[in-house]
Amino acid sequence: MATQEQANGRLVLVPGPFQGHLTPMLQLGATLHSRGFPVTVFHTQFNSPDHSAHPDFDFICSNDDVSENDRRSGNLIRLLNKLNSSCEASFQEGLRGYLEKEGQGQGIKGIVFDPIMYFTEAVARRLNIPRFCLITNSATTSLARAILPQLKAEGLIPLPDSIKQDKVPKLHPLRFKDLPVSTVGDISDLLQLIQLAGNMRTSSAIILNSINFLEESSLAQLRETYGVPIFPIGPLHKMGPETTTSLMEEDERCMAWLDKQEDNSVIYISVGSVASMNSKQMEEMAWGLTNSEQPFLWVNRPSASIPGSEWIESSNEEFKNSVKDRGCIVKWAPQRKVLAHRAVGGFWSHCGWNSTLESICEGVPMICQPCFGDQLVNARYVTHEWRVGMEAEGEIERGMVEEAVRRLMAGKEGEEMREKVRELKQGIDASTCEGGSSLESLKELVEFLLLPLL
Ligand code: UDX
Repeated sequence: MATQEQANGRLVLVPGPFQGHLTPMLQLGATLHSRGFPVTVFHTQFNSPDHSAHPDFDFICSNDDVSENDRRSGNLIRLLNKLNSSCEASFQEGLRGYLEKEGQGQGIKGIVFDPIMYFTEAVARRLNIPRFCLITNSATTSLARAILPQLKAEGLIPLPDSIKQDKVPKLHPLRFKDLPVSTVGDISDLLQLIQLAGNMRTSSAIILNSINFLEESSLAQLRETYGVPIFPIGPLHKMGPETTTSLMEEDERCMAWLDKQEDNSVIYISVGSVASMNSKQMEEMAWGLTNSEQPFLWVNRPSASIPGSEWIESSNEEFKNSVKDRGCIVKWAPQRKVLAHRAVGGFWSHCGWNSTLESICEGVPMICQPCFGDQLVNARYVTHEWRVGMEAEGEIERGMVEEAVRRLMAGKEGEEMREKVRELKQGIDASTCEGGSSLESLKELVEFLLLPLL
């Protein structure tokens, strides 16, 4: 007799190979697995997830040929293009393995792909398997990316200074300078990626790590643009069983340090898994934090390609003496737990989409220091749409850091943002409960996945 899992059919997930992409895909996998779908994850060797953390999933690893030089180049878009061309054969072979077992109730229901893994389209077409796209950034970012090719055709990229402050039509409150024109790699590479990743038009449905009330008008525009069912089922980390997704080891010692701090007193600083500060910015940040006299927890991620990453460890005695136990510095933190801790009262963030959602979910207001791409869009939403954060304006300099931290942690403005973000947190909690928009959307998605789709 077929089990419930076999009856539902297998979902093959294809995450993008970066922390900010892998995390929501694995969370979606855990959620759909808990609702009866067997899950296989096809992943690259580069940034491979930890199989042992997901005993319920099957894994297939690609034969990608990414060299050490590619990894260290910092050109993520070229790296992605290379991965896309080298993954196709092993993906097809892996899927054929399942299809051969179809008669034993092991068929494939569909492929859930990250749009940056565009090689999935040709294989799905050849093998006649439906695809579902998981957008791991905001709905607004997807709309903002979609207009870049047109702007390029009109000669507006690179953006002329004269229009940078102007509002982008239909994308309130974004200004042209907030558009996700990446500085990681070349603009022509980015435009090529946008065109190739636009293949979400050919998917049977679009799943988003977003919440209806946070992005109502952008979600409506997306529905109009793509004409396929759209399921906003975020925040994904609250929709299913807790799952481990970190590519780096989380330093749990910071939790014991947080336990010793007063409620809402700690500013948490992290710029995610890709962005970085150079050694000068590190030094300015360090002194700004010290001078603010506010307790801080700072993620100082080590990386061979980050020139400033060694600054803290070799930093001078004067800094160490003045911080004493008022600061805690780790290489990688259990961020979701940190943000949920009662002692954390503010987040200095690069505004990656996961960090933004995680902060709002825990009612923590932000200081926004966007570095590139979608972070600019998210920061604008945080500061001018939801009004739960302030922008760190200008160069990172100790006076600016001190002032921003004081304003958020001890000022009236910070208090207002804290109240506002708590309201958003309540809205998110409601959306994940029975009758809430995200939970209802998830149920609709499950129903949809059970339909015969091809
Ligand atoms: C990348 C892009 O940079 C980002 O703009 C895009 O929105 C997603 O892909 P990243 O920079 O890593 O992601 O940022 P973010 O989306 O915030 O994801 C980082 C993840 O790492 C979060 O889930 C966060 O909880 C986790 N994290 C971060 C940790 O677990 N520990 C840390 O110390 C820092």
